[in-house]
Amino acid sequence: EKGGYRHFMLKEIYEQPRAIADTLAGRIPDDQADVVLEGLGLSDAELQSFRKVFLVACGTSWHAALVGKFLIEKLARVPVEVDIASEFRYRDPIVDEGTLTILISQSGETADTLAALREAKGKQGKAVAICNVVDSSIARESDGVIYTHAGPEIGVASTKAFTTQLVAFILLALRLGRARKSLTDERLGSIIAALKTLPSKIQDTLAACEHMEEIARIYAQATDFLFLGRGNQYPIALEGALKLKEISYIHAEGYPAGEMKHGPIALIDDQLPVVVVATQNESFEKVFSNMEEVRARGGQVVVITDCADDGLKGKADVVLPIPSIADELMPVLTSIPLQLLAYHFAVLRGTDVDQPRNLAKSVTVE
Ligand code: M6R
Repeated sequence: EKGGYRHFMLKEIYEQPRAIADTLAGRIPDDQADVVLEGLGLSDAELQSFRKVFLVACGTSWHAALVGKFLIEKLARVPVEVDIASEFRYRDPIVDEGTLTILISQSGETADTLAALREAKGKQGKAVAICNVVDSSIARESDGVIYTHAGPEIGVASTKAFTTQLVAFILLALRLGRARKSLTDERLGSIIAALKTLPSKIQDTLAACEHMEEIARIYAQATDFLFLGRGNQYPIALEGALKLKEISYIHAEGYPAGEMKHGPIALIDDQLPVVVVATQNESFEKVFSNMEEVRARGGQVVVITDCADDGLKGKADVVLPIPSIADELMPVLTSIPLQLLAYHFAVLRGTDVDQPRNLAKSVTVE
């Protein structure tokens, strides 16, 4: 049942090209005209009418929501607020008929996320879900649903469920942007063209990570890790840190790279490996200088980048080059090395990768 893989988590990481092809199936027509989200249940007029979008979730799904905010604000130009379900549900959130609340949940059964959905609906807002499990409670109670079609995820640490959520957000942002006329034909066409190459780019990214176990060995004795990213890669830094904590029990923190000088920089010494996600977008140079600040204080830098420039080699202890794709889709690719890094650390430490201590696959109690 593990298909020859040692753990479900590894199998699920390698399933991502297929899982994402399934998320996309039937939703991007060949003529590149528009995105089709069959179960969304919202008309163009409704999509135009929203003044505010809430994205509400827990854990890894909340990280997907943080990326979703970038995508929706960029492509659909509507203000987005991201909230953790256990906060949203108890703070009397300002929701009305002009608010669209989107609940993100792999299992569709997370108690706090389900309660957040009920809270939003109780305030007359529209609420739709991004879910993996068909007919789950959250999917059933929402006004509409975008299924991620990742297939069953057995490993407690979410991997393919996360990257398919990112893809669902891209589709939704395109659909919203189209309805709200904030997206030109040209931009839509170029993102759709990039989406079509995504499964094969993921395959190439997996191939680029074949030496990840050796990288993990270099830092096998480390007790703490820092993960840094900016912009749409900041949530990926958070996710990289969460993966490492969950399955290897190594303490890790994710930070927006620009926040480093406001505190975490005090932690940096030669015992602290820092994983930096540096993609070629408008923040590349800034991330790069954050990396130099870490190096100047003796920190060990592992950089994950789509920049093929050899000049990078002398600037970090380990450079992991991955393929490049449209910036909106880069978070899908950068997630993969971080999943594999956490996986190999956990295996080296001999933990129970698929069933880490104290964690359950779906958290149905508050
Ligand atoms: O099923 P959900 O997406 O609602 O689950 C939310 C979190 O419990 C989940 O993402 C958790 O953080 C995972 N263990 C992450 O790997």
